[in-house]
Amino acid sequence: MPLKVIPFNPKLIDFVAKVEGISLGEPLAVKSVEAIFNALDRFAVLVFPNQVLTDEQHIRFSRYFGDLELATGDYMKQDDRRLQMELNDISNLDRKGGKIEAADVKRLFSLGNMLWHSDSSFKAIPAQYSILSAKIIPTTEGDTEFADMRAAWKALDEKTQQKCLGQVTLHSQLYSRGELGFTEFREDQQEAMVPVRQALVRSHPRTKKISLYLSAHAGMIEGWTIPEARIFLKRLSEHATQREFVYRHKWRVNDLVIWDNQATMHRAMGFDNKQVRDMRRTTIAGNISSLKDMPS
Ligand code: OGA
Ligand code: MN
Repeated sequence: MPLKVIPFNPKLIDFVAKVEGISLGEPLAVKSVEAIFNALDRFAVLVFPNQVLTDEQHIRFSRYFGDLELATGDYMKQDDRRLQMELNDISNLDRKGGKIEAADVKRLFSLGNMLWHSDSSFKAIPAQYSILSAKIIPTTEGDTEFADMRAAWKALDEKTQQKCLGQVTLHSQLYSRGELGFTEFREDQQEAMVPVRQALVRSHPRTKKISLYLSAHAGMIEGWTIPEARIFLKRLSEHATQREFVYRHKWRVNDLVIWDNQATMHRAMGFDNKQVRDMRRTTIAGNISSLKDMPS
């Protein structure tokens, strides 16, 4: 069956599409991988319904798109992990499969996903794509929102665009977790939290389309005072996450969603911790710094 790419929402015609006619658990032909890459160039979010995948199949499928990041950004120490290092554990379950308590620091740390962000923007070479598979979903809530940062860039007035061009931001989980009130971090966490430099505006390495590159991890702009930088970033983020640029995904079990972190932000909407939500994510590592993709 040929791959069918169906725009999801007529209002966001070039942002989200549903993909049918492919079974991601099977080894893929080069042609199919190319078709998915091409779809991602146009739609920055792709939804593949009904993909029943083992973790191994999820990982094998992900590797067609590049090297995988290891999940080092969450609160877990190595030996607390429920899943293998290639999988980010986006669940409220502990290593033994029991539910994590609402007040558990691991859960509180994971609430950072509820701030608008781009995955791994706190890494010097940030992520390209994220691939999230829904295993168990709550009966209500637990949606994820995505914002189109290409559309947000295009809609900025020229004066603000000029103000953004050439700016270098500093990203760290210190800033995003700081926003949630975290002030103390283990030594291994601190090492992973040294701020990294990112472009505020980037052109996509494949399509050359220009995007704002924002994230809750961004806390400073080089050469600016901190309050001025924070206000400016907040304003940009408010602009970029207006309803017209946002798609809200209501998950169904076995949905697999791929998004392009180079052109989007996303956030979890939250759910009642009495329920179980088990989602697993692979992340395709980048190969160049966003600073190399600054438009001139
Ligand atoms: C992620 C993420 C949002 C959600 O997996 O990177 O931010 O709704 N998830 O779980
Ligand atoms: Mn995320």
